[in-house]
Amino acid sequence: MSAKSANAMWGGRFSAGPDAIMEAINASIGFDKRLAPQDIAGSRAHAAMLAATGILTEEDAAAIDQGLTQVLAEIEAGDFTFSTALEDIHMNVEARLRELIGPSAGRLHTARSRNDQVAVDFRIWVRDQCDVAITGLEALMRAFLAQAEAGADWVMPGFTHLQTAQPVTWGHHMMAYVEMFARDRSRFADARARMNECPLGAAALAGTSFPIDRHMTAQTLGFDRPTANSLDSVSDRDFALEYLSAASICAMHLSRFAEELVIWSSAQFRFVRMSDRFSTGSSIMPQKRNPDAAELLRAKLGRIMGATVALLTIMKGLPLSYSKDMQEDKEQVFDAADTLALGLAAMEGMVSDLTANRAALEAAAASGFSTATDLADWLVRELNLPFRDAHHVTGSLVKLAEDKGCDLPDLTLAEMQKVHGEITEAVYAVLGVHNSVASRTSYGGTAPENVRAQIARWKEVLG
Ligand code: ARG
Repeated sequence: MSAKSANAMWGGRFSAGPDAIMEAINASIGFDKRLAPQDIAGSRAHAAMLAATGILTEEDAAAIDQGLTQVLAEIEAGDFTFSTALEDIHMNVEARLRELIGPSAGRLHTARSRNDQVAVDFRIWVRDQCDVAITGLEALMRAFLAQAEAGADWVMPGFTHLQTAQPVTWGHHMMAYVEMFARDRSRFADARARMNECPLGAAALAGTSFPIDRHMTAQTLGFDRPTANSLDSVSDRDFALEYLSAASICAMHLSRFAEELVIWSSAQFRFVRMSDRFSTGSSIMPQKRNPDAAELLRAKLGRIMGATVALLTIMKGLPLSYSKDMQEDKEQVFDAADTLALGLAAMEGMVSDLTANRAALEAAAASGFSTATDLADWLVRELNLPFRDAHHVTGSLVKLAEDKGCDLPDLTLAEMQKVHGEITEAVYAVLGVHNSVASRTSYGGTAPENVRAQIARWKEVLG
């Protein structure tokens, strides 16, 4: 392999360029070009600070600022030729700046290093993704709220072990997801607040002897303050890990509703109908309406969790401060963030378009002896039976109904009284699913009035 000329950025002590394979493994430009807007924002803030502190002349700083603005315009217009030989976004931008403004471009790198540069670029990028996730989550919460409002008092079976347990309201089930996605939203907000410290100015690892103003660059870039320890500043990727952790939990939530959609849209359940916009047909079976988007959402967590595990593994055991291992952070986070944004948008679309089958929900709610607990509670309340005895009596009544092939309300009073003589006509009131859900008014319970209060609360929160 022919030796190329030494690298322009550090060629001083090298006589030959890298081997092609070295270049291929070393370069990150293929993916970190995505950080161009953040890189240029960081450089502009840095140059302005260098001028304000007298480290750079105003003329040099102005030329740098203008040049960087042009570089960004070229990149955004797709007119920029990225070079693998220049390794990463930082050196690609600087090399182009030099072409545009000449040697004063070389002054931009005073009092900084690519180590703090990549740390600040990536932090800004991840911070933006927290905002993207929060916006997506709020839209999704609104979609669930609309579903909850439409069917606040519709009854459906509530499940444990995927076995019919007790009747619940459709609104209550929808609002369970509002709670889940609200926690995701607050996790992204917490992570965002914690990561909002600026590592720029930590330089390579030890800080710098130049009289820089890190508070100024922190403020320009929208950070609350500069990071306090230069070693930590360049070696920390907790912000990305926190983002990925929050994204993993959020994707896990998406997968749970996705799974419910898959089950509910099946011919056996028919609880919901997914819109044409979010269903696909089969090339051979004309009757099929496949919930592909839901199935994909059920799977997407695999990628996001994979990225989380990958980055934790990359960071594990790394000595302070920067190591090149850390360059492997970006593709994981980029893919996870793209996957999450798409997933949130797809789920929002599916939920907004979803039609619940009220009659099928209600029929299912009434089957499977779903009001057996109501019956047991009635025996406790009205006949003063100890709960354990009431449970036993109810179990016998369920067995009787099962043997007859009917539901609990279909048993005659005489049949019930054979099991327990004191049961009266009044028991039938609690065997209906609407009475059942209406009675569950304990705080957080499924009663429609509770659901409506929660909807009102969340609407207020979301504004
Ligand atoms: N491309 C590098 C990364 O993503 C930038 C930092 C390189 N620093 C260094 N000392 N080689 O991590």
